[in-house]
Amino acid sequence: MDDTRGLGLSRRGMLAASAATATVAAGTTPAGVLAAPARVPVPGKVPVRFSVNGKSAELSLDTRTTLLDALREHLALTGTKKGCDHGQCGACTVIVNGTRINSCLSLAVQHMGDEVTTIEGLGTPEDLHPMQAAFVKHDGYQCGYCTPGQICSAVSVLKEIEEGIPSHVTDDLEGEMRPTNMEMRERMSGNICRCGAYSNIAEAMAEVAGAEA
Ligand code: FES
Ligand code: FES
Repeated sequence: MDDTRGLGLSRRGMLAASAATATVAAGTTPAGVLAAPARVPVPGKVPVRFSVNGKSAELSLDTRTTLLDALREHLALTGTKKGCDHGQCGACTVIVNGTRINSCLSLAVQHMGDEVTTIEGLGTPEDLHPMQAAFVKHDGYQCGYCTPGQICSAVSVLKEIEEGIPSHVTDDLEGEMRPTNMEMRERMSGNICRCGAYSNIAEAMAEVAGAEA
């Protein structure tokens, strides 16, 4: 047990001191008990107000709440579906200020004063929106889970074409835009249907657009 370079510490003492330092650095006490984690501040709730299907909605929400969760969990509008919750499937599509969005990718607090339309706001069982009626007529669904998102998207797609907003497959940017089968399929590509009802959805959209499927 020689002193190490005259520091007055034995080799065994040096090793013990090093081990204790490493243990504390790893977040545990020397006795191996987990240390209390640093307190992370929890975001507070904020008032959020927007319009949903023509009615004013006032909520007090955790700032991390997505628009999708605000609709489903806080307003009980469960027509809008949660599929992937990661912007991959389109099941959560709603229309905000006339434009379709994936509501799972958007925080509710971003929509102060916005006008949100969900599947519940497009039509009623007694008075279906033309796109809803066309989906029924053409069997544009099987399990129906993706259908609210598909219908909200389909309604917006026809509006986009009407307004002349180009897509990746638009070949003529100067001429009149038409609701061709390719235009509609390209624009609907973000809405996934596990049941594979795509051709029937295309037929439903073509009927509403007055075009060929
Ligand atoms: Fe939003 Fe899938 S749930 S894109
Ligand atoms: Fe079942 Fe589309 S109808 S996922």
